[in-house]
Amino acid sequence: MTLWLVRAPTEQQNQQLLCQTQVNITITTNKLILNEKDIQYKKNIIRKLIRKKRDKLTETEVKEKSRQIEKKLFDIQRVKEASIIMCYVSYAKEAATHSMIKHLIASGKKAAVPLVCKDRRKILISELRDFDKELAVGAYGILEPKKQYIRPLALEDIQVIIMPGLAFDITGGRLGYGGGYYDRLLEIKPNPYKIGLAYDFQLVDLLPLSLYDVKLDNIVTEQKNINCHKQTTF
Ligand SMILES: Nc1ncnc2c1ncn2[C@@H]1O[C@H](COP(=O)(O)OP(=O)(O)OP(=O)(O)O)[C@@H](O)[C@H]1O
Ligand SMILES: [Mg+2]
Repeated sequence: MTLWLVRAPTEQQNQQLLCQTQVNITITTNKLILNEKDIQYKKNIIRKLIRKKRDKLTETEVKEKSRQIEKKLFDIQRVKEASIIMCYVSYAKEAATHSMIKHLIASGKKAAVPLVCKDRRKILISELRDFDKELAVGAYGILEPKKQYIRPLALEDIQVIIMPGLAFDITGGRLGYGGGYYDRLLEIKPNPYKIGLAYDFQLVDLLPLSLYDVKLDNIVTEQKNINCHKQTTF
């Protein structure tokens, strides 16, 4: 198995490091034990690298790739079968979900979106019935349900959850924005079928993961649909 190993830099070397110090090494065991500080350090370097790359996407690229992601997502059996699906509301250059959510609602499924409670570092779940009418810019600049349209749902109500992220690996490892929001939401078991959406360049060989990191069941990019359990791509 291969791992992207990122060397610890001095502050001055940091910029240079972001561009060039990815060393491909081979490990012989399945488990690599790192302390939490090392893991956080490596996570942050990867976050910066991927974010920088993603920021460079043009609006046209975001639109086209997201269209392909949406097509693949709606081909997944678990998505076809689900009647209640939670989906992040995309912002900036994230794989775009606005049209996906509208299509979910139009197809007769129940759609739910996250509502961030910054004080408690928690995600609340709210049913969304009208994408254009019910959302307004909320925490972190992300669209969220306006007060009068908050319709709380429990995690147990959700059959499929579609999650954002900065980097993913094919074992289901996910690197988010560093708030731990989704890990906290999904620590309750059993939890929904978890799908991550990303562009192909956001897939890395093996992410440094913490004990509390919740793994995904499926990752969809514009080129691949990865079943993280079977580790098959189609
Ligand atoms: N289940 C949990 N209970 C308590 N704290 C948690 C839990 N999961 C994560 N955290 C805390 O959240 C912080 C950020 O976690 P992590 O770096 O994995 O974020 P992330 O998965 O990238 O973020 P996000 O899910 O918001 O996109 C960690 O410092 C960790 O201590
Ligand atoms: Mg995490």
